[in-house]
Amino acid sequence: MQPFNNRRSFLSRAAITSGFSIGLCQRGFSWAPPTASATKGPFYPIPDIDKQKYFDADLTRLDEKSPVADGEQIVVQGLVLDMDDRPLESVIVEVWQACASGRYNHPQDRNDRPADPNFQYWAKMLTGADGAFAFRTIHPGKYPGRTPHIHYRVIAPKRPELVTQMYFESQSEYNKKDGIYMELKPEQRQAVTVGFEPKAIAPASDSASKSELKLPTGLFRIVLGPTGDTKATRPM
Ligand SMILES: [Fe+2]
Repeated sequence: MQPFNNRRSFLSRAAITSGFSIGLCQRGFSWAPPTASATKGPFYPIPDIDKQKYFDADLTRLDEKSPVADGEQIVVQGLVLDMDDRPLESVIVEVWQACASGRYNHPQDRNDRPADPNFQYWAKMLTGADGAFAFRTIHPGKYPGRTPHIHYRVIAPKRPELVTQMYFESQSEYNKKDGIYMELKPEQRQAVTVGFEPKAIAPASDSASKSELKLPTGLFRIVLGPTGDTKATRPM
């Protein structure tokens, strides 16, 4: 596994090397429905993400000197947009998820799968002027009753908070057995289901290796509505 040496430059490198800007250029002025909300679930980090020791955009290890977490590394590129397809700047995007074994780092997660001490189970990011964010993580494992997913909490200035979940196109067999996924309307499901394909992630400028690294990369478009669309949190 190639180390990810310069974590601070990850966002800009991910955008530059994977054609992310192309997606931005293709924005039209069409109307898009808001991203569907979903339960926050019981495993939101304690304490809050920004009170954790590590919460940067590379979840695959705790810091530059730490071992790499188990599992398949992926990159999620995100865009936060309004319903007119305009990027939203300075939006806080929190993510949290299970590790490769399907275990959360949370005292209420009592399943017997092993926790991964090298995995950073969460991140907190801020969108730029282009509405973009990106993070590098591990494909989340399945846990009882759920298809693999990543939780999101999106907090935009002067807009209601959105809590939602992102799913994987590759997991369609499990997705269609997942009650939370299937309670969405078909078009809502499509909007929160992301396909991944290998894209180049350039090595950090200070990396000894100059070889190109490819990781499965997917784009998640989050559309915020002008009014609230959040449900009360319920156990899951
Ligand atoms: Fe979950």
